[in-house]
Amino acid sequence: YSPERIRNFSIIAHVDHGKSTLADRLLELTGTIKRGHGQPQYLDKLQVERERGITVKAQTATMFHKCNHNGSNTNDVDKAPTFLLNLIDTPGHVDFSYEVSRSLAACQGALLVVDAVQGVQAQTVANFYLAFESNLAIIPVINKIDQPTADPDRVKAQLKSMFDLEPSECLLTSAKTGLGLEQVLPSVIDRIPHPPGNTSSPLRMLLLDSYYDEYKGVICHVAIVDGMLCKGDKISSAATGYTYEVADVGIMHPELTPTGVLLTGQVGYIVSGMRSTKEARVGDTLHHNRFSVEPLPGFKPARHMVFSGLYPADGSDFEALNHAIERLTCNDASVSVTKESSSALGLGFRCGFLGLLHMDVFHQRLEQEHGAHVISTVPTVPYIFEYSDGSKVQVQNPAIWEPTVLATIIFPSEYVGPVITLCSERRGQQLEYSFMDSQRAFMKYRLPLREIVVDFYNELKSITSGYASFDYEDSDYQESDLVKLDILLNGQAVDAMSTIVHKLKAQRVGRELVDKLKKFIDRQMFEITIQAAIGTKVIARETISAMRKNVLAKCYGGDVTRKKKLLEKQKEGKKRMKRIGSVDIPQEAFHELLKVS
Ligand code: GTP
Repeated sequence: YSPERIRNFSIIAHVDHGKSTLADRLLELTGTIKRGHGQPQYLDKLQVERERGITVKAQTATMFHKCNHNGSNTNDVDKAPTFLLNLIDTPGHVDFSYEVSRSLAACQGALLVVDAVQGVQAQTVANFYLAFESNLAIIPVINKIDQPTADPDRVKAQLKSMFDLEPSECLLTSAKTGLGLEQVLPSVIDRIPHPPGNTSSPLRMLLLDSYYDEYKGVICHVAIVDGMLCKGDKISSAATGYTYEVADVGIMHPELTPTGVLLTGQVGYIVSGMRSTKEARVGDTLHHNRFSVEPLPGFKPARHMVFSGLYPADGSDFEALNHAIERLTCNDASVSVTKESSSALGLGFRCGFLGLLHMDVFHQRLEQEHGAHVISTVPTVPYIFEYSDGSKVQVQNPAIWEPTVLATIIFPSEYVGPVITLCSERRGQQLEYSFMDSQRAFMKYRLPLREIVVDFYNELKSITSGYASFDYEDSDYQESDLVKLDILLNGQAVDAMSTIVHKLKAQRVGRELVDKLKKFIDRQMFEITIQAAIGTKVIARETISAMRKNVLAKCYGGDVTRKKKLLEKQKEGKKRMKRIGSVDIPQEAFHELLKVS
């Protein structure tokens, strides 16, 4: 395949506008997967993706399609050239926009999918600009036109007014019924430029993604920018200088399909004996070891918005957790990991995430894909403290500089009141307020990051009956009146539970944290006091009275098998308990604390 016969494109959309369904249909249309293959959302491979119905990881699939050069479908199939199309399915949620921008680096064009009922939403705006800034050809696709309330003309007008996309360029589809799908691939071939690389230059390939396979080791997804790669070639990494021999090379069609060679413009996989993320660096340039090349620009480093401590639920599992995190970060390079120790929880890790959903998904993947039991601590955002001098830990000025974001919120105009109330409760400052059309309001707010990482999106959804969409980008630090809120169990401060809050909210948050803990901690053989305090001042307090009798002995004293079963069950349950001082705290308690804002 010469680059002229290759198209690399991505599908971008607001969450739930139908891009995974559209991807499925295109894979079926080209015979890449069988129709009715019994596995909806082929590219959503992870268990968390299927359970939550969202795409978390970008996935790539290669398809072949016969078509005329001008993009028209042909009647004379034999004479028409075959095109090689690489489709990269990307996540829609804000937390995964890092995955989106990485995928776009391997593409020359994108299908911008917009729901014909909902119209342009916040992530449509964010994803459009990601693609636009990467100079991609953008094909607007108005999907779900089968729905009775679909209004494609309104969506066309929105696309024109917001992005200057011509109504005549919009494709109208239903990924559900198949209506209009036949125009999609010809438009891709006609309107998206072929990859620009040079076939006769020395090999340069961009490492797009990687994951760990039990049998093969690290599998890397790569885009060949210049030159070609063959099985058996010796390659080097521009980042680490290490050299490898390529043991296997091929395309995702849609499963790993060995081809022995990858040519300029192709996207595929390689297996080369890399063993960890330290070697397989996303954004790295790989080249033949006999040539030195100018490295490719790579990717912007991920900006971590939320940090949380991850600790093994059972202290002795530290090594197992270390191993699981190593393996998983191989497939999610956007997480930062440093070791830390907590006096309450022992040895663990401080991890940086792109957002709260990202943190949640990482946690779930650790448990599901790597069998790790973890406790995560209250998320924090990266504050900047003003110290009186470099060496002292005394805060000279009680003001702490806190990070803020610029948020875009789009929602039906009847919800203006509740949205403004929510944003001001969250200490937001309104920057822009306009109407996209007669029914949709558009607002921009500056909000403290801390206020949105905890449950902001859910609340926004609930006050707008699910209709608001939300996206954010990071902004400046602002001076703020914040205090450190400590949680004490039997008088002992638990470092893993302390949090930083705005002074005006400290009382309420302290009360909620104490109430939650009281609800989730079981009675034990002794009395437990739970306190929330700012410095030495206690602002909320609860007590859990001591258990009076040995319940187990009383109920099950006679029945040995039942007792055994119960003890087994308890042992299983204990795995998920953490002992702090002398108090056993269940894993859910930590989880519940994350939800207090
Ligand atoms: P994420 O992967 O979470 O980002 O979502 P997505 O954009 O990939 O959306 P997905 O393909 O999962 O579709 C969301 C829902 O819309 C699913 O229930 C689909 O069955 C449905 N859907 C997709 N396309 C159409 C369509 O053309 N018409 C109708 N009526 N429903 C559709």
